[in-house]
Amino acid sequence: MILKEIVITEDINSLEEKYKLLIKQLKELLNRNDHELSNLSNLTSALKQTFNKISWVGFYLYDKEKLYLGPFQGKVACTTIEIGKGVCGTAAAKKETIVVPDVDKFSGHIACDSDSKSEIVLPIINKDGELFGVLDLDSSEYNSFNETDKIYLEEICKFLVEEILI
Ligand code: SME
Repeated sequence: MILKEIVITEDINSLEEKYKLLIKQLKELLNRNDHELSNLSNLTSALKQTFNKISWVGFYLYDKEKLYLGPFQGKVACTTIEIGKGVCGTAAAKKETIVVPDVDKFSGHIACDSDSKSEIVLPIINKDGELFGVLDLDSSEYNSFNETDKIYLEEICKFLVEEILI
């Protein structure tokens, strides 16, 4: 098999351009014929490799009862999260993206990693409208994720559901 690579050069300063280039390469990297965990794992790695601001990125997957730790990149993390708890559990319960500019101001935030200062969590909803899990990105700086991140990360989650996890 051909080893695939993610190449985002340092000279690309625009966040939007980085996402566009990343999405183009994800379409080559991820493959619906590969195992689900392999695709999820490579996606976390591609995101971590592309954005220096990410200190931790990973999936929490839904087992019809709670969220459990899936493929990730970064320090060790909590293994389970109840629906409705923390940023992940809240995004899962509401089925909507949550951007947290300062984790200390989010009541109930779960501090898996004490370095985390801001985060964004996106729900992953399958084609039947059911919760599959969430994608959580953390940063050790405040205000790391904005509307541009939200738009493109939602596009990546949509691509994942519609073209890879089938
Ligand atoms: N901060 C998350 C928990 C997961 S870790 O940050 C990896 C939350 O509040 O749900």
